[in-house]
Amino acid sequence: TERTLILIKPDGVRRGLVGEILRRVEAKGYTLTSVELRTADDDLLAAHYAEHEGKPFYAPLVEFMGSGPVLAAIAEGNRVIEGFRALAGATDPTAALPGTVRGDLGRDWGLKVQQNLVHGSDSVESAEREIGLWFPGR
Ligand code: GTP
Ligand code: MG
Repeated sequence: TERTLILIKPDGVRRGLVGEILRRVEAKGYTLTSVELRTADDDLLAAHYAEHEGKPFYAPLVEFMGSGPVLAAIAEGNRVIEGFRALAGATDPTAALPGTVRGDLGRDWGLKVQQNLVHGSDSVESAEREIGLWFPGR
């Protein structure tokens, strides 16, 4: 069975949306096998977002992601990687469809960094790499 790394970003934790977002994951039938709330340091975020290094939004993104606690979780299930990304919706909350986390709950704060509530791994390779970063040994 497939697994993925889910992050509820600092905007989601600050807004009290942890329960609502995890409810949707569980309602879809995915199993949470690890859950941890913590504030990520720069080393972890640099490794997590290595693919975006050098892009204009990289520095503000890392600053935002380290601005408060993040809920990190491992979710398991059949095709969970694609399935969670479908639950999350489009990266830009102003474009995300109703019925998705970002479409229903995301807001346009007029900020440079997209504060889009959640992260989900985008491939089996990314999932295993990211799980290794956030949950070493699991
Ligand atoms: P994640 O699940 O968070 O990885 O989102 P994603 O896969 O939909 O997007 P991607 O991996 O391309 O980008 C990671 C994060 O960087 C996004 O979730 C946004 O927070 C931010 N981001 C991505 N593209 C842009 C952009 O063009 N402008 C800005 N301001 N932020 C961006
Ligand atoms: Mg991504």
